[in-house]
Amino acid sequence: MPARSHYLNNAATTWPKPECVAKAMAAFLEGRGANLARGSASRRDLGTLDMVTTCRMKIAALFGGPDADPRNVTFTANVTEALNIVLKGFLKPGMRAATSSMEHNAVMRPLRRLEGEGVSLAVMPCTREGTLEPDTLARELKKGLDLVVLSHASNVCGTVQDLDRLAPLCAAAGVFLVLDTAQTGGVLPIDATGWNLAACCFTGHKGLLGPQGTGGILWRDDFASVCRPLIEGGTGSFSHEEVQPSVLPDKFEAGTPNLPGLAGLLASLDWLGETGIDTIRKREDELGRKLLFGLRDIPGITLYGIGTMENRLPVFALNFDGVDNGRAALELADRWGIETRPGLHCAPVAHRTLGSFPQGALRISPGFFNTEEEIELCLEAVSTLSRENPHS
Ligand code: ALA
Repeated sequence: MPARSHYLNNAATTWPKPECVAKAMAAFLEGRGANLARGSASRRDLGTLDMVTTCRMKIAALFGGPDADPRNVTFTANVTEALNIVLKGFLKPGMRAATSSMEHNAVMRPLRRLEGEGVSLAVMPCTREGTLEPDTLARELKKGLDLVVLSHASNVCGTVQDLDRLAPLCAAAGVFLVLDTAQTGGVLPIDATGWNLAACCFTGHKGLLGPQGTGGILWRDDFASVCRPLIEGGTGSFSHEEVQPSVLPDKFEAGTPNLPGLAGLLASLDWLGETGIDTIRKREDELGRKLLFGLRDIPGITLYGIGTMENRLPVFALNFDGVDNGRAALELADRWGIETRPGLHCAPVAHRTLGSFPQGALRISPGFFNTEEEIELCLEAVSTLSRENPHS
């Protein structure tokens, strides 16, 4: 196995993280460690409260702009938990929901379970490149819906949905729109306020460059008020009551939160603020462009999704003619130290849409910390595998 590894699996989780992330997590555990709102208001308790409140403020501002209320941010373990809270908290038998044919199982599995319990579900077909056309959404809205849930960008092939055109359709129809920003938070501008999102679900460990085990929801008040909490328990507040508080953020935050994780997330949000998500986006776009244009020239491979850098993230799915994508991923790792992700990426419906089901695809996803040399090495390695393949 090569001594050096080249991490090109940032769609699964970004790595490395800015150095400040691990430092902040260690500093929290070693130096503070106090629980949230469950102490004597000592200096250490107030330090934790300050840290979590500041984290809420930064998330609210990042996704909702300067007027978003930090109390409307609730933290969860990841975006999957966030989506489960939202979907299971709102949808009841007899209601009608719609989603796209490019979703991750974090959306599809809760929806399929709810469908089995009497919720009616429409899966709106996307184009072969993974785009949801506004007309398709408009047609579904006309039939009557209670909720629409969409991934902002595909974790399989990077296609970005045009929220500037889709969101106003939901707003005009008075239908709640929930957005899964797993792949776009910290990478693309997200306008939860302008898009009138009922809930903006996010994860901390991808584009936000924070630790695993962090995520959450930025709620719109009227939507939060009609959702039932998935988990009930201690909140460090309203302790005289045996029922879950109805106020935000407590309503959806029972139990001790992942405080070391939030310390890391706050550090990464500071780092993002200093670096600028435009700078990150520009750099990732440059690396993506180099990779895409190189891949397009290699014979014997099929690329899925959008063939240019328009309306996409630097997440590329491909197959070699006649070589299993799992085998290719192993070869890339064993011979060149290149880390990718093969298979179905927890998104079978997206692969069906793209034409890569059931075999899946090899996914290559560079990140901010990759170098031009690593992209060149990857292109050389993909080209070598393709040349060695007798079918190409
Ligand atoms: N959803 C993540 C991925 O696409 C983990 O790999």
